[in-house]
Amino acid sequence: MATIKINDVEMSVTPGTLVLDACRTVGIDIPHYCYHPALSPVATCRMCLVEIKGQPKLATSCTTTVPPAPKDNPDAVVMEVFTNTPAVVDARAGVMEFLLINHPLDCPICDQAGECKLQDYSYHYGSGDSRMAEVKRRYRYEDLGAKIVIDKNRCIHCTRCVRFTREITGGGELIVAQRGSHLEVTTYTGKSLDQNPFAGNVVDLCPVGALTSRDFRFQKRVWHLKSVPSISRHSALGSPIWIDHEGNQIHRFRPRPLEGKETTHFISDEERQAYTRYNRTDPAPSPMLKGAPAALDAIREAFQAAGPVAVIGQGTFGCDAAQRLGELATSASLRYGSGDRTIAVVLPKYQTSADGILNRRGFTERGFRFGALEELLGQVQKGQVKAVVLLHDAAFTSAKEAELLGQILQAAAFSLALEVEASGLGRAAQAWLPITSFAEESDFIVNHDGELRRYQKALQPPRGVRTLPGWVKDLVAVPAAV
Ligand code: SF4
Ligand code: FES
Repeated sequence: MATIKINDVEMSVTPGTLVLDACRTVGIDIPHYCYHPALSPVATCRMCLVEIKGQPKLATSCTTTVPPAPKDNPDAVVMEVFTNTPAVVDARAGVMEFLLINHPLDCPICDQAGECKLQDYSYHYGSGDSRMAEVKRRYRYEDLGAKIVIDKNRCIHCTRCVRFTREITGGGELIVAQRGSHLEVTTYTGKSLDQNPFAGNVVDLCPVGALTSRDFRFQKRVWHLKSVPSISRHSALGSPIWIDHEGNQIHRFRPRPLEGKETTHFISDEERQAYTRYNRTDPAPSPMLKGAPAALDAIREAFQAAGPVAVIGQGTFGCDAAQRLGELATSASLRYGSGDRTIAVVLPKYQTSADGILNRRGFTERGFRFGALEELLGQVQKGQVKAVVLLHDAAFTSAKEAELLGQILQAAAFSLALEVEASGLGRAAQAWLPITSFAEESDFIVNHDGELRRYQKALQPPRGVRTLPGWVKDLVAVPAAV
């Protein structure tokens, strides 16, 4: 470890730590634009300048690292950093003035308003004045494909988006063209971001409102949205995300980077777009028995009278749901796992598994056996298992698996499906119960890397829709004596 002083406060850090990160650990947030922990440092925006004792000029804290302690004096203070001297304050105000030279004052119609670093830093570190008397540079907004729109007037040339397409996704679709005041971020002629399955991340990376997503543009003011920590069900690792919602409707999914976890900075466009699946449009579904709406008592009666019960749990649901579902099985050996979706691995560094069933591990730990549905079909056909309870989401089941599940339900004397929305398979079961979606409940998963990831309830479920543990409690309840 090496000892440094930040604004006269002594601390120990690992040699090689960025000064910007060292400052952050003691609660000093250094303003920055071009720096991003997952991208190579370029030190172009000059916003993160700090003063270092003994150095004649201000230094960029995003590229300056803490040196090791001298061998003969390990306790020596190796660096003294000052983040609030008059020279630093003046430099920041100067940088802000330059960045705002061509930036339009269109915050009232800009989608980034409310989460714009230019707005925030201008307020905290800007001079509040401009000496720019010339006419501002003007561009028309452009489509960078069907998903992303660029407004070059707002761009501050931090090159985060350009480095993302070069260093993370590798397509290099975005470039910096021209020089001086004509500098612009654009695509090579004929290229767009449409072929890039992670393109949506450039919108999150852009610290200003230059890159916006076609999907979210002009839809919501961000200060009206509530953000709930959750995970993406559409990745192998359960990528941490924010669910941004208002009025019981989800408006966007955003990555929720975890400290020190580089794989959590980006999500695929498929994960990002999946939010539309969790906004209910149809009226609240009701419990069904033999194709007609039914009271829970009737379903419970049929279930309890059936005989030996096997359960099939799809490994995309939470561990609490798996635990409760498993308790319905007559014996531990009658817990079966389902779900066979795979994910195309585009970025091996960020997608460490191609398995699209994110909680396979959590289900396995609770005694669910995957790849054994044929065995269950045999047992049902022989009459050793009479009742089958299925926890299912059609989005994660292939046609082949759906056919096998259909045969199992058909062969069983009694079958019950629990789904968010009734699928063809759910309608084929004798009984059907509506359950909450992952956005309407709190639970956790154990991902393919063995990490426990929690998700919290963001939306209110419709009346009559319950969590799986809620239904299970009633299904096993002993009816009150009349
Ligand atoms: S478009 Fe945004 S992310 Fe890209 S260089 Fe400009 S300001 Fe930076
Ligand atoms: S963040 Fe350090 S120079 Fe841009």
